Amino acid sequence: MESVRDFENYQLLAAGIGVAILGYNVITGNRPRWVHSLHEKYGPIVRITPKEVSVQDPDATDRIYAIKGEFLKASWYKQFIPNVQNVFSTTDVDYHRRHRRLLASEISESGLAPHRATVDSKIRLAIERMAEEMEERGATDVFRWFLYMATDIIGELSFGSSFRMLETKEENQYIRDLKAIGIAGGIRVTFPLLMQINNYIPIPVLSLGMRIRERLCEYASQSLQRHYDEVLEQGSDAKPTLLSKLYRASENDPDTLPFAELREDAMSYIAAGSDTTTNTMTYLVWTVCRRPDVKAKLVAELRALPPDFSDHEHLRHLPYLDHVITETLRLYSAAPSGLPRVVPQGGAVLAGRFVPGGYTVSAQAYSMHRNPRVYPAPLEFKPERWEKPTRAMKAAFVPFGGGSRICIGLHLAKMELRLATARFFTRFPNSEVSRLEGFTDDDMQEKMFFLTAPKGQRCLIDAK
Ligand code: HEM
Repeated sequence: MESVRDFENYQLLAAGIGVAILGYNVITGNRPRWVHSLHEKYGPIVRITPKEVSVQDPDATDRIYAIKGEFLKASWYKQFIPNVQNVFSTTDVDYHRRHRRLLASEISESGLAPHRATVDSKIRLAIERMAEEMEERGATDVFRWFLYMATDIIGELSFGSSFRMLETKEENQYIRDLKAIGIAGGIRVTFPLLMQINNYIPIPVLSLGMRIRERLCEYASQSLQRHYDEVLEQGSDAKPTLLSKLYRASENDPDTLPFAELREDAMSYIAAGSDTTTNTMTYLVWTVCRRPDVKAKLVAELRALPPDFSDHEHLRHLPYLDHVITETLRLYSAAPSGLPRVVPQGGAVLAGRFVPGGYTVSAQAYSMHRNPRVYPAPLEFKPERWEKPTRAMKAAFVPFGGGSRICIGLHLAKMELRLATARFFTRFPNSEVSRLEGFTDDDMQEKMFFLTAPKGQRCLIDAK
């Protein structure tokens, strides 16, 4: 007969195997796909590790990500971004509320109005660079130019000076570092024990991650300091950013933030606002180019625009443009993974099951957006499905997260997506996927660490 000790050993073994399988899927950029396969097999609530649960259920999702959130961000975020906190990573409710309140108005729809011209000028330059590259190379890598575009935009709006990647046509060190640090983050959150071991026996990838983080911080400090000094010393904010109203003239002003906290928020804007927009735009262009029917309908709608169209007045009311963007956000969510939250003390019933307090729960966009009961033929790219969305479709649509931690940059993201899509397809109405240099659909397979990116890190498009 099995003893209690044997039973405990089996449980430990099962837990170890569970964590190892999860770890393998994290490291290979496959976590959301693997969690989704569990939902397909076992239904709307599945246990991923001994104390971690994923749900694929709109009511449970509403509850987990409610505005009056009783489900707080999990300590996962502290491991993902160690040693510091910012508006994205903090698990402290008061800290978050204060930062969000102070940051929100400048990045709201009306707060963004003064920045529209900056955003548009970077988009125009990106489109010019694509046209040049098509001439010279026979195709353009839209992934590269959208990355330069999104990063230059959020750099300028956060630091007051852009990374100038569109001008120099080169990636700078900050962006190379930002890319590298994502992998270390994934390893840290999956194997927290490794971080403790790393304190005694350095593990190269984790130590490198820490060094990169220091370099990013140094660069951010210098860039922000330049603008900070300009604004405070000259007393005028000639080139306002999303943060400059919060610069601190006096130590006691409750409506401002200290330099170090602003620097962390600026860094979180850049990390959260560059790859997300880049990948959404890349998948949008690639998908539309593969679907002549969608492209024709979109181009026809854009043809009605005046030559000097702007985002606000003209683009916000184009229905098909909106459907194409929404469908891209559904099928190619830039943040497809679960956004982990902690079940409050006392536990909660989610999707018909009791989940004990202290467990980690999440609803991943990847599965929410592929629920066939909500989105029939979920793997098909069908912008038309958004003509008359059902209540269930709207409830299950979570590309920007939800509740009090919903993406603070979503208005900026939408402005960029509308303008960039409109400028791209008015300039290149005949664009097609290129097969130059062996580019295939395999390059576009989604690698999903916390964020999605195409496996080949490129997307070649041509316009005859
Ligand atoms: C298509 C583009 C974008 C997508 C799909 C996206 C997605 C998301 C998601 C899913 C979250 C919730 C994260 C969580 O709960 O852990 C989030 C939060 C956040 N995003 Fe975005 N994002 C986009 C663009 C941007 C941009 C342009 C910015 C620039 C400011 C930005 C800044 C942030 C910040 C600071 C947070 C944390 C908000 C908080 O916790 O209060 N995002 N985003």
